[in-house]
Order: sequence, then C-alpha cells, then structure tokens
Amino acid sequence: MVKDGDIKSHWSKVAKEGVACAKEIFPLKFCGTFKDYNIQHLEMRTLLGYIEDGNKVVEIGCGKGYTTLFMAWAKKISILGVDYSEEMISVAMSNKIQIENKLKGDVTFNLGDVADLKLNDVYDIAYTERCLINVPTWEDQKAAIRRISQILKHGGLFLMLEGSKQGLMNLNKLRTQNGLNEIQMVWHNLFFDDQELIRFAADFFELIEVNNFCSTYMLISRVLHPALIFPDQPKYEARINELAVGMPNFGDFGYEKLYVFRKK
Ligand SMILES: C[S@@+](CC[C@H](N)C(=O)[O-])C[C@H]1O[C@@H](n2cnc3c(N)ncnc32)[C@H](O)[C@@H]1O
Repeated sequence: MVKDGDIKSHWSKVAKEGVACAKEIFPLKFCGTFKDYNIQHLEMRTLLGYIEDGNKVVEIGCGKGYTTLFMAWAKKISILGVDYSEEMISVAMSNKIQIENKLKGDVTFNLGDVADLKLNDVYDIAYTERCLINVPTWEDQKAAIRRISQILKHGGLFLMLEGSKQGLMNLNKLRTQNGLNEIQMVWHNLFFDDQELIRFAADFFELIEVNNFCSTYMLISRVLHPALIFPDQPKYEARINELAVGMPNFGDFGYEKLYVFRKK
C-alpha cells in the first residue's frame, strides 16, 4: 500500500526542481508541478473563471504557489496557499518575493495538511488542483472533502480539480483503439470515481457542474498526436498541443475534471 509519508517525500523532492516554464502566461519564471504546462495553464484559466475580485480564497495543496500567485496576479483577492511540504511552502514564499510588486491581490502561504486543516477563517472559495489525488485512500479523501466543506461560507464554492477514473478509462479506450498503450495512474495518485464522489459530496455540497475542461486537449495531445507520430514519442511543447489548447472543448476524454460544488 502507498504510504502518505512516501508521497510527502516525493513532493518535497519535486519542490527542489526549479523548472522554468516553456511558456510564460504571467511574470513568474517557474512552472507549476504539471510537466505538461499546457494542461497546467488550462487548469489555472479554468479555475480563474470562478473567482471574482474581493473573494477570500484558499488553495489546498498549493505546491510552489504557481497557481496561487497567478490568481493574485489576475484578481484583487485575498488568497491563502496551504501545503504539507515545508520545502514546497518555502519555494512558494520565495516565488512570492519575485513577483510581489506585480500582484493585485494579497497572498499568504502556510504549512498545513488537508487531513488536519487548522484554519479558523471561512472562505468564499476553496480549490484543489491535483492535491486530493495524493491522499492515499478513499476514506482519507472523504475526510479531506468533509474538512474542506467546514472552511467554506454558506454558498461558498469548492472547486475540486482532480483526476477522474472515468475520464482516464474513456481516454484509454480511444488510445487502445488507436494502437497506443493505456496511460497508467502514477504510483502516488488515486483518482476519483465520478459517481461515488458526487454521491458522497451530496451530504455537504450541491453539485453545480462537472467541467471536463481538458477533454479536447487530451483527445488531441494524448490520442491523435501520439497515434500520428507513432513510434516517435510526443513532446509537451509540440505545436499541435499549443493549437489544441485553443480548440472548443467537448466530450469526456480528460483524466482530469473540475467538480464544482456549492456548500449547502
Ligand atoms: C500535484 S501538486 C499540485 C501543486 C499546485 N497546485 C500546482 O499545480 O503547481 C500536489 C501538491 O499537493 C500537496 N499535498 C499532497 N497531499 C497533501 C495533504 N495531505 N495536505 C496538504 N498538501 C498536500 C503536495 O505537497 C503537492 O505540493
């Protein structure tokens, strides 16, 4: 069984990798944690669409603060980034110093585990961006979601951007039909079953929508492109991926989804 401590050490190692982003969408020189920066940027723009000036926001599992800082660069908000890795929080704080004079909003970073969030405030918006898939069991994932519901104002939004088993299954079906191997979940991830998640979350949240924000992008970058160039290996920075980002979104072929919940 995957241990939480191993996952935490993994992220603490990742914190030390200072990767410059091949495409800058705001003035921070470093990347988020997703090596496919096109998806990271799609995630960020999608989340941003739900955030308004004046909101009090918390990102749980903020990593190096790439997305947290992007939000405060784009909107006049107050935002807290929380992560359980000291190394991640320390990099996030130094990233903040690099960009501080360009931010519209206020940003704070704090150490904290989603399993035991010590937050006294309540928020308009809480979001996760590939954090809860690192919580090693469904039982612990449920406890984390329950805890997140407690730090939201009544009517507040939980933007849960995480991995979906069904999305991965749909994508892999197309990959195998086109002669490609299935994409496997990495060892430290546990994706969500859409229906199980929605049923469980209904105790605390009204489901507003499931936004399949990266479906078209994944269809092109994970099926069409690799099938066309096989046996060569696709690269994230391929021109077709850049074009795919701008295509209209349709279908259910992304292994990530944004589940938008409103606190009851
Ligand atoms: C995939 S990274 C995403 C980071 C950031 N959202 C980004 O896209 O750059 C997941 C982050 O969640 C953090 N994380 C995982 N489990 C956590 C937990 N139980 N409590 C707090 N943070 C956690 C990890 O340390 C890591 O920084």
